[in-house]
Amino acid sequence: MSYAELYQRSLTDPDGFWLEQASNIPWIKTPTVGLSQDENGAWRWFEDGQLNTCYVALDQHVAAGRGDQVALIYDSPATNSIAKFTFAELTDWTARVAGGLVSLGVGKGDRVVIYMPMVPETVVAMLACARIGAVHSVVFGGFAAPELATRIDDATPKVVISASCGIEFERIIPYKPLLDEAIRLSEHKLAHTVILQRPQCVADMTEGRDVDWTSWAAEAQAHECVAVSATDPLYILYTSGTTGKPKGVVRDNGGHAVALEYSMSSIYGVDAGDVYWAASDVGWVVGHSYIVYGPLFKGCTTILYEGKPVRTPDAGAFWRVIADHRVKSFFVAPTAFRAMKKEDPDCELKAQYDISSLKYQFVAGERLDPPTYHWLQENLPGIPIIDHWWQTETGWSICTNMAGVELLETKPGSPTLPAPGYDLRVLDESGHELGPGQEGAIVIKEPLPPSGFPTVWGDHDRYVDSYFSQFPGFYLTGDGGYRDEDGYVYVMGRIDDVINVAGHRLSTGQIEEVVAGHPAVAECAVIGIEDVDKGQVPMGLMIVKDGLNIEAATLQAELVQMVRDNVGGIANFKRAVVVPRLPKTRSGKILRAVMRKMVDGQPYVVPSTIDDPAIIDEIQGCLVEAGVISSS
Ligand code: COA
Ligand code: AMP
Repeated sequence: MSYAELYQRSLTDPDGFWLEQASNIPWIKTPTVGLSQDENGAWRWFEDGQLNTCYVALDQHVAAGRGDQVALIYDSPATNSIAKFTFAELTDWTARVAGGLVSLGVGKGDRVVIYMPMVPETVVAMLACARIGAVHSVVFGGFAAPELATRIDDATPKVVISASCGIEFERIIPYKPLLDEAIRLSEHKLAHTVILQRPQCVADMTEGRDVDWTSWAAEAQAHECVAVSATDPLYILYTSGTTGKPKGVVRDNGGHAVALEYSMSSIYGVDAGDVYWAASDVGWVVGHSYIVYGPLFKGCTTILYEGKPVRTPDAGAFWRVIADHRVKSFFVAPTAFRAMKKEDPDCELKAQYDISSLKYQFVAGERLDPPTYHWLQENLPGIPIIDHWWQTETGWSICTNMAGVELLETKPGSPTLPAPGYDLRVLDESGHELGPGQEGAIVIKEPLPPSGFPTVWGDHDRYVDSYFSQFPGFYLTGDGGYRDEDGYVYVMGRIDDVINVAGHRLSTGQIEEVVAGHPAVAECAVIGIEDVDKGQVPMGLMIVKDGLNIEAATLQAELVQMVRDNVGGIANFKRAVVVPRLPKTRSGKILRAVMRKMVDGQPYVVPSTIDDPAIIDEIQGCLVEAGVISSS
């Protein structure tokens, strides 16, 4: 079937289309219902189905005779080691860790927070939760203690699983002090933590509360897979919204398994036995979907890479991994290629490796800027460079080129066409559909296809308010863009206060809360400005309290440290400029977009609702003085 036929069918007969895909999953109770609505009115998939996600990822392959196939390759230049685990080994290990969790009182529906580096134990911990129907919430290791505390308070876990440290290039980052601080800051009190002691750094343990992973996992009794409803939650993944408080995106078991299994062959062009690699972090949705669940559902070998694109040891690291493990389909954020391009502009290091196994190059996480697209095209001749667009909220692609169905023409700057099940529209501010070339808000007509999130953890009103109230009947993606004459989608950037820093999704509100907390700051605005390496970086504009005499450089240094301590180094907050006033509308809304465009050198229109137009020249003067923009 062609892409066009497939896509059409997914919209005209969603139940039939997705129930057919659902037949590829080993259900405990096969669903007979496709779509339905729950008590909140949210659309759900496969409500009468029962399954176990860990069984789909692991046990089914052992039962089918693939137990000796390698399921997981841990490739870690950070520790100079490589380890391989077969489906049988991973199943046994996961079953024991599941038993260990049960021994700590964790049961179906209980939450477990996982704050871990890129080690196999992280994957096992996630799958072990799924095995017993517990809900995991993985927190990216780059987040500072207050961010972890916020997530602990929201998810109220019974147990937190963590490690003594992470490794960033040559630096050891002790995790345990961050976890201890997060536990101190959080109101929710937990009974236990389980700590993986890594040889690079041994953590101090709190007697009675902290459990040692190694002896705990060794002594635990293996636990069987527990049947859960298709609509039961599998995980919560916190993501940045427009306010400082992150949103707990909930993912269910059934729709997730069906959509991800489907995506592996139809989008990524891989089958059981193929080697698939997503060079992301398990702390992000890409890591959940395409380091852990998707490839394992399909019976692929997946790679867990504890390293960077550069300096581990050089900009040839990715080519080395592809060659060593015969990777067929590779997925990474464009920012990683920009880092490589900077160090090896002519891609000379690639010549040292045989990367003939590579058939498809996928990118996502941020806009694929045309220079990076052309660099890839030049250096990977004959390999399709496939940009695809998706979000934590969907768990898989909204727009893509379906390599396993029909490779369509690619156009630089476009993630091609909507994936099956996504009825995509571009709307103007009053909700009217826009035509080709006209830029507006990208929305998806309800219902979202399987894996689409059914709620925000503990706050269904926020789900409705944030995503479904602006254009009733449509899911607001938060991204703006347009379609061309052929329907190709162009995603141009966020239309809210979310920014994308080196493929990491952050909220300006989150950083603003920290900056506003400095005793010298009366008021502030944080904006995301263009950056050649990271895509975007945040920049602060602050008004200093009257009568305070603080050097701009001192204030900037203090704010940079505060953002590191409260959000994390990944925020890449390095610039803060003192201004006398902030531009606002008469109703008090800060004109962030005007300031962002001013810094990025883009044309901007000052709205007629501005409080005092003279502020614009004042801000411009401050930015010139601070060396952010030039005077011309
Ligand atoms: N734990 C602790 N600290 C971390 C961390 C982690 N897991 N990840 C990053 N950091 C730190 C870095 O060490 C750095 O610290 P520094 O300011 O003291 O040097 C800081 O946070 C900024 O990190 P980053 O902007 O990520 O830069 P980097 O040089 O460490 O890495 C890339 C560059 C391109 C490799 C990295 O940004 C990347 O892989 N991005 C892709 C993200 C992604 O996959 N997103 C998912 C969508 S596809
Ligand atoms: P996250 O939820 O962390 O995966 O971030 C999702 C956001 O990243 C989207 O809303 C987009 O703003 C951005 N994004 C992801 N993939 C792409 C892409 N291929 N092109 C443009 N933006 C993207």
